[in-house]
Amino acid sequence: MTDKTILRALRGETLPTPPIWMMRQAGRYLPEYRATRAQAGDFLSLCYTPDLAAEVTLQPIRRYGFDAAILFADILLLPQALGPKLWFETGEGPRMETTTTMDQVKALKPTSEIHETLSPIYETVRILARDLPRETTLIGFAGSPWTIATYMIAGRGSKDQAAAHRLKDTDRATFQAIIDRVTEATVEYLSAQVQAGAEVIKLFDSWAGSLKGQDFQDFAVKPAAEIISALKARHPGLPIIAFPREAGDGYIGFARATGADCVAIDNSVTPEWAAANVQKDGCVQGNLAPEHMVTGGEALVRETLRVVNAFRKGPHIFNLGHGITPEADPENVTLMIETVRNA
Ligand code: CP3
Repeated sequence: MTDKTILRALRGETLPTPPIWMMRQAGRYLPEYRATRAQAGDFLSLCYTPDLAAEVTLQPIRRYGFDAAILFADILLLPQALGPKLWFETGEGPRMETTTTMDQVKALKPTSEIHETLSPIYETVRILARDLPRETTLIGFAGSPWTIATYMIAGRGSKDQAAAHRLKDTDRATFQAIIDRVTEATVEYLSAQVQAGAEVIKLFDSWAGSLKGQDFQDFAVKPAAEIISALKARHPGLPIIAFPREAGDGYIGFARATGADCVAIDNSVTPEWAAANVQKDGCVQGNLAPEHMVTGGEALVRETLRVVNAFRKGPHIFNLGHGITPEADPENVTLMIETVRNA
């Protein structure tokens, strides 16, 4: 049995102080991240250079003593490993060769070949499993099939995911084939991360909020349930965090419907609502607005305490509602952590 606080919370224990980590905790708000990224040359080279990716993963652990480290990589490396070219436009974000026809789906690489591209990521996990402090939990991750599909179909990020919705509504067979290929590959990718030493897995469904009604069931709940049951069959007891961002009422019952051990909550819902409606089923993670890491001060302290107090009666992992932004002040992160640990 382990005493790592995050694993205890994920098993359903209510702790006096919630364990804490932060989405995008290794990122551009940290000067040491910017220095290592400059050394790597560009973001994708950083992801694919195990020593440097491990170094930036460790930086926020050294600086702040977070209870978890999240592997430094990106959700778009998996679709890249299936064949489509991926690049990042400076100041704009990811760009990807599009997949919108059945012929293109059939031309994707077989799942067994993804490891040729992704083996450096597993090496990063192995370095981290060796070098992290004993008390720090190592989190591996992947994007959820719907969110990955939105980038594969549009070739870029978009506010409303219109291109993916259009394919879903006009060529269901091709859309479903993309979801199925990503689901299958994600199981292999995450399983390899676990074999390399990841102790917890997180599934990021950043665009789940635009799936409504039956679509939410079919393309947010169902693929997550398939990935989680396949992973748990291979790795009994593996704890899994699901993040169907901006799911709103879709958060209710999501853990039970998918088999996730914890649901991560964004900050478009209040912590009081999430405590009453989601935490009643088990562990929750979240949900301080990331803006407080930019603005700081009394509001940061007040809202941090509000989140801690709202979730106090059940299992909780403290986190932001979404990733910390490059404009954040590293001092505000210190203030947040001190506030959580002294609450
Ligand atoms: O949380 C962590 O610190 C672990 C590493 C991590 C990154 N991306 C590093 C990253 C994780 C878990 C992700 C997930 C990710 N990537 C998601 C899902 C989570 C979310 O934020 O909703 C998505 C949608 C992506 C795709 C992606 N990667 C986008 C849209 C962008 C550009 C936007 C931006 O913030 O610049 C990235 C780039 C990216 N991924 C950066 C980092 C640290 C910034 C790259 C840089 O250094 O320039």
